[in-house]
Amino acid sequence: MANVIVIGTQWGDEGKGKVVDLLSDKADCVVRFQGGNNAGHTLVVNNEKFIFHLIPSGILHPGKTCLIGNGVVIDPSVLIREMDLLLEYGLGVTPENLIVSRYAHIIMPYHRILDAVREKRKGKTKIGTTGRGIGPCYEDKVGRNGIRVHDLLDSRSFLEKLHANLEEKNFVLHRFFGAEPLDPTPIAEEYLAYGERIAPFVGDVSEFLHKADQDGKNLLFEGAQGTHLDIDHGTYPFVTSSNTLAGNACCGAGIGPTRIHKVLGIVKAYTTRVGAGPFPTELLGDTGIRIREVGGEFGATTGRPRRCGWLDMVVVKASIRLNGLAGLAITKLDVLSGIPTLKIAKAYQLESGQRDTLPGESDALQVCRPEFEEFPGWNENLSTVQRFDDLPANTRKYLAAVEEMAGIPIAMISVGPRRTETIILRHPFDNP
Ligand code: IMP
Repeated sequence: MANVIVIGTQWGDEGKGKVVDLLSDKADCVVRFQGGNNAGHTLVVNNEKFIFHLIPSGILHPGKTCLIGNGVVIDPSVLIREMDLLLEYGLGVTPENLIVSRYAHIIMPYHRILDAVREKRKGKTKIGTTGRGIGPCYEDKVGRNGIRVHDLLDSRSFLEKLHANLEEKNFVLHRFFGAEPLDPTPIAEEYLAYGERIAPFVGDVSEFLHKADQDGKNLLFEGAQGTHLDIDHGTYPFVTSSNTLAGNACCGAGIGPTRIHKVLGIVKAYTTRVGAGPFPTELLGDTGIRIREVGGEFGATTGRPRRCGWLDMVVVKASIRLNGLAGLAITKLDVLSGIPTLKIAKAYQLESGQRDTLPGESDALQVCRPEFEEFPGWNENLSTVQRFDDLPANTRKYLAAVEEMAGIPIAMISVGPRRTETIILRHPFDNP
């Protein structure tokens, strides 16, 4: 029995979906604990491409229970669309394989509108959010004005909360942003219908996980976004509105920290970032464009081109510290094939001198100069390689350098989007 958390070590889009999908084979329950449909996992199974935003990717595996924890913010229209899509593919979604926390917060239409008008008003200083209403929904949660899943099942409570919220939101929307105020009647109709549809799936995620854990089941917690988008420890204010760190798996699902056995960090073999914010190793020229094209680096949620750059081990080492990582999974290594010289950042040069730890202030990160170590590249196609020893010598040298700088072992290496295109060195569920 083992309970494992999978976390992105960079700015999201590290390929967590594929790793979680692969690990799901040995998991009984797959749990999301933060974020919402700002996340997007692209999976390739039997040559079919699946993009999920809310439902854990474990849903593709028969016999697993997928859970959406209290820490997630749910847009019910997106949840229902994903359920319908799975049904279209002949993959049944039932209360046995999907449980949605009663206590997760609901993204309302005014959250999406506020996200959009605020970004517009910020102009040049905008965050570059996904526009899904994530931030405003978490604001209402912390402000104790939120509407939760269980409210959708109780029309009286829902209508009360909707009216109270709209009184304030309409004032702000209309008087401050000059936007149209919202009419509660169609919103109530729409959301109460969502409530009816998801009612059979609503449950107590914490109680369920407690029982599964006591029964010796393997639990897999699937982080969304990445460590450096964390609201506290990320590149604030260019971050998402939840804690993306491993520690939040406990709060966002309702399980105690002593029940977690391992945290696996996902490291893309290079770095990407969507939206605004500092990115010391960003490549603005041809190499960046090449990585974006070969790696298909376009947002799974918004389709925006991702900013691409060299691997930054200062960033990854901060993630090792913040998440207590036990091992790394390196993804998209195949994308680097054909680049003559590769670079890895191992320190930064700042006005105050050199440092190999991450400055907490975005302003400092914005102006720092990365110090790189260079590595000879390789030309071979890696996607058919099944064993570490069969990787080209230069690829092995690159990985050895990553492992040495990280100070923790590499557990998995992904050399292509398919499940089979993976070299597993240490399976986290086999070595708790
Ligand atoms: P929000 O989460 O939509 O509020 O967006 C805040 C910041 O997080 C923006 O820079 C987004 O591009 C980024 N972001 C949110 N979700 C993801 C993700 O799943 N992958 C990468 N970036 C993300």
